[in-house]
Amino acid sequence: MKPTILIVDDDDRNVVLLTVKMEREGYIVESASNGVDALERVAALNPDVILMDVMMPRMNGYEVLKVLKADEKTRYIPVIMLTGLGEVENKVQGFDVGAEDYITKPFSLREVSARVRSLLRMRALQKRIRESDKMAALGGMADGIAHEIRNPLMVIGGLARRLCDGADEEKCKKYASAILKCVNRLEKMIERVDDYKGILLSTLRPGEINRVVEDALRDAAFLFEKKDIEVKVSCMKPSPVVNMDYINLKTAIVNIIENSVEAMGDKGVLEISTKIENDKALVQIKDNGVGIDSDEQKKIFHPFQTSRIEGAGLGLTMTYRIMSDHSGEITVKSVKGEGTIVTLSLMVIDETSSKES
Ligand SMILES: Nc1ncnc2c1ncn2[C@@H]1O[C@H](COP(=O)(O)OP(=O)(O)OP(=O)(O)O)[C@@H](O)[C@H]1O
Ligand SMILES: [Mg+2]
Repeated sequence: MKPTILIVDDDDRNVVLLTVKMEREGYIVESASNGVDALERVAALNPDVILMDVMMPRMNGYEVLKVLKADEKTRYIPVIMLTGLGEVENKVQGFDVGAEDYITKPFSLREVSARVRSLLRMRALQKRIRESDKMAALGGMADGIAHEIRNPLMVIGGLARRLCDGADEEKCKKYASAILKCVNRLEKMIERVDDYKGILLSTLRPGEINRVVEDALRDAAFLFEKKDIEVKVSCMKPSPVVNMDYINLKTAIVNIIENSVEAMGDKGVLEISTKIENDKALVQIKDNGVGIDSDEQKKIFHPFQTSRIEGAGLGLTMTYRIMSDHSGEITVKSVKGEGTIVTLSLMVIDETSSKES
């Protein structure tokens, strides 16, 4: 199938010039004359490359770019910014917002074609990598689920057969209760797999990290309500602002709090803080629970890796996935018998500059 190129420019002469050249190169060409139209066209066409002017009425090129790069569905479409502004500052701003390339007007049509070809090659390669990553993740997940189901299923089958063969009342009760335990485990696993499916799309928008931390703590409060757990919160003011999917990031933090509460049992101290270090917003969650030994630490992000009878082993797998969708990081430091510190790190955005541009 022919690749589709979307040209976004309010100057008709540029649109005509580029359309003729791109059609000659064998592409399907569509156009939009302002930023708002561009977003509609992108949603309808899912183009392979966008050539976009910066100075446009209604919504400028940087604003359109920001919306495109914040949405999982459009994030991977390469964008070449076309503009008469040649200053370094403008180029840097374009790249910061996520442009893949930048061409200064007056441009050479041959150069535009060469850059489009190069971005199309890059897009094809990235698509292949994303697809093979997806297949590998799906394969890993399917293996994990099959493995997790096999054991309880064997126990359920064995005990049900014994029930069918006839057993006294006391044994019947014992078998039935063992079957119920296996069923509970399977139900919990299915519930967590559903939770995992729920986080698969992240749509990023600027948001205050402190609010997510406070709301996550409120959501998780029922976990330590009846326990002797002291919660210490220390959030940097004003709150660092990061690009986030509020619900998914909250889920990531709730998962970590849940693990800390589990690790502390009935008594402990949970410390949560936010701060900025080297342009990164850090959320730190510290507990004085059982800790994780170094061998275990290597595997905690793998699906179905759990030390808990009631656990599915998907909490940190989910959190890891959410952090990579945010281009962020998660690190875990733990000493067996002393406690654990989990740190989430996300790039801080300067909210004032994002509002201005
Ligand atoms: N703060 C912590 N202290 C001690 N061990 C931890 C901590 N956080 C994670 N772990 C270990 O890592 C394992 C994996 O955690 P994860 O959240 O992925 O799964 P889970 O809590 O077992 O199950 P789920 O979250 O799906 O209900 C846990 O079972 C536990 O052994
Ligand atoms: Mg967990």
